Amino acid sequence: MNRIPTTTHRDRIVRYTLLGSTVLTALLGAFVSSTVDAAEAAPAAKSARPAAEQVARGKYLMSTSGCMDCHTPWKMGEKGPEPDLSRLYSGHPEQLQMPPAPQLPEGPWLVVWGATNTAIAGPWGVSFTANLTPDMETGLGRWTERDFIQTIRSGRHKGRGREVLPPMPIMVYNNFSDRDLKAIFAYLRTIPPVRNQVPEPVAPTASAR
Ligand code: HEC
Repeated sequence: MNRIPTTTHRDRIVRYTLLGSTVLTALLGAFVSSTVDAAEAAPAAKSARPAAEQVARGKYLMSTSGCMDCHTPWKMGEKGPEPDLSRLYSGHPEQLQMPPAPQLPEGPWLVVWGATNTAIAGPWGVSFTANLTPDMETGLGRWTERDFIQTIRSGRHKGRGREVLPPMPIMVYNNFSDRDLKAIFAYLRTIPPVRNQVPEPVAPTASAR
């Protein structure tokens, strides 16, 4: 590069005083290296930001869409029932074996909910809310983003398995954009994995009177 004027200028400074040159070089060096640092750091910071924003968006969407009501087991707290955050989004607790659901008489009452909010009996049988944590064996650890989106879009397990039973509000959540579903899935990737094997649903025939 053609730095002749600068060099000449600096040479002149050197001639004036050696100390002056040292100070100037140090300052220039510090300036150049801080500029380089900033330039190098910028792309990394840029690429990290969308991921953090996406996760925050997913967390926000889940907190405002009722997922906590059904997918985190509820317990009795000091001020009444509250979600057990130590089991965040881990679904119906495997240790909690539900007795057969009470049979309702003919009439307008239709559904019975367990105290944990994770076992629900209705005309579809008994369903147990899924473990949404990234546990490899019992949660969504092996799911791809596509599996998740396809489940919500089709109302079937991973888009190809059995139908997802009520009261999972598939029809409501089908209104989420792909972008929102991706954000929810990105957030679910970040929560602590909880090992919890949710029981299979009970068919209506088995629970019928
Ligand atoms: C009213 C209760 C309820 C709410 C609210 C709810 N779910 Fe569910 N969800 C369920 C039940 C029950 C099941 C299990 C259904 C079954 O076994 O077929 C389920 C299953 C799932 C599954 C697993 C499907 C599969 O094939 O394994 C996913 C994923 C899921 N829910 C995500 C969510 C997300 C994300 C939210 C919030 C945006 C949410 N759910 C809110 C009740 C609910």
